[in-house]
Amino acid sequence: MFVRHTLPGEVVRVEVTEGDAASAYWRADAVEVIEAAEGRVAPPCPWSGPGRCGGCDWQHASLEVQRGLKAAVVREQLGRLAGLDREVVVEAVPGDAEGLDWRTQVTYAVSAGGRAGLRKHRSHQIVPIDECRIAHPLVRDVSLSQNRWAPDTAVEVAVSPATGERLVLAGGRVQRGLGSTRDGTAAVHEAAAQRLYRVSRGGFWQVHPGAADALVAAVVEGLEPAAGESVLDLYGGAGLFAAVLASRVGPGGRVTLVESDETAVADARHNLAGLPGVRIERGRVDHVLRRLHLRRADLVVLDPPRSGAGKAVVDLVSRTRPRRIAYVACDPAALARDLRWFAERGGYALRGLRSFDLFPMTHHVECVATLVRASD
Ligand SMILES: C[S@@+](CC[C@H](N)C(=O)[O-])C[C@H]1O[C@@H](n2cnc3c(N)ncnc32)[C@H](O)[C@@H]1O
Repeated sequence: MFVRHTLPGEVVRVEVTEGDAASAYWRADAVEVIEAAEGRVAPPCPWSGPGRCGGCDWQHASLEVQRGLKAAVVREQLGRLAGLDREVVVEAVPGDAEGLDWRTQVTYAVSAGGRAGLRKHRSHQIVPIDECRIAHPLVRDVSLSQNRWAPDTAVEVAVSPATGERLVLAGGRVQRGLGSTRDGTAAVHEAAAQRLYRVSRGGFWQVHPGAADALVAAVVEGLEPAAGESVLDLYGGAGLFAAVLASRVGPGGRVTLVESDETAVADARHNLAGLPGVRIERGRVDHVLRRLHLRRADLVVLDPPRSGAGKAVVDLVSRTRPRRIAYVACDPAALARDLRWFAERGGYALRGLRSFDLFPMTHHVECVATLVRASD
């Protein structure tokens, strides 16, 4: 039975929410806590709890307990799927003391009655909420209950804490009365590594304001880029890592960014314009790597979507014989599976692992793994 709203070691009364006598497993909510675990707290959000907003998983746990649980999950996946036994510590994003007020992009659902809110867990039902506690204050400033929204649409809010920009779309249309952006387009400018990056609607950017800097630091620390080296930035998005790595390898080096999404590629071209040695390839990573016939890359960054890179990409990357690989992962199971393939098929060993709490109050965790050739 998978029980939400509880913690390991508690005694709770549960209500089964999915499953019957024939099911292989059931889902349930803890509706009464009989014996609480250490680390249980009063949820800071009044909309969280059984049958309410499904956005957060762990509002009822202290941040320390949340991070301990995430570390245990990463450790378990590495053991189970990659055969690695490793101590894991989940680090807080610098400056994030409470795990609230961080989410810079929120998409609210709008009900048939025109009320905006967030969905219940595993349901299309919408819980009308006034303000999401994990949303950044610039997001929360958009008053949901005081606005009338077109029925059965979505309200998308994206903000940049660095520039104060706020982009609001309702039913896919920009709402200029509710926010503004620098150039008046559907794009905000996000800050990382002392640069601004244009991120257009639909393009990827980490949602915690401290995430990009934390990941850049971990990637640079893991790769130790040197002047003149060649780098592949795979799944490169708007160019976060490429810009930083280009400045590290300098004018004698080369950075090739590969990204399949048209919007992200346009943003990357804008963000990386003028940086010497940077090349942008639009297409799927496996297709582009086959097309380029690269013999050699000194360093590789991989930052794939949740499904991970997969066998074909692991093989193609390994064939370029990089000195180091930095793998940025939002799903520890996919990471562990790919690490196993990198070890078995490419001869790469895990050298360093850092895990970050980029999504407090939820079960999500981000990892940066650094790999080296086992023979080195
Ligand atoms: C997790 S995001 C990382 C973006 C960027 N590295 C960053 O940190 O902002 C993954 C990116 O991979 C792109 N993507 C997904 N599948 C892809 C594929 N098969 N080939 C190339 N890019 C892909 C997505 O469009 C998205 O921009």
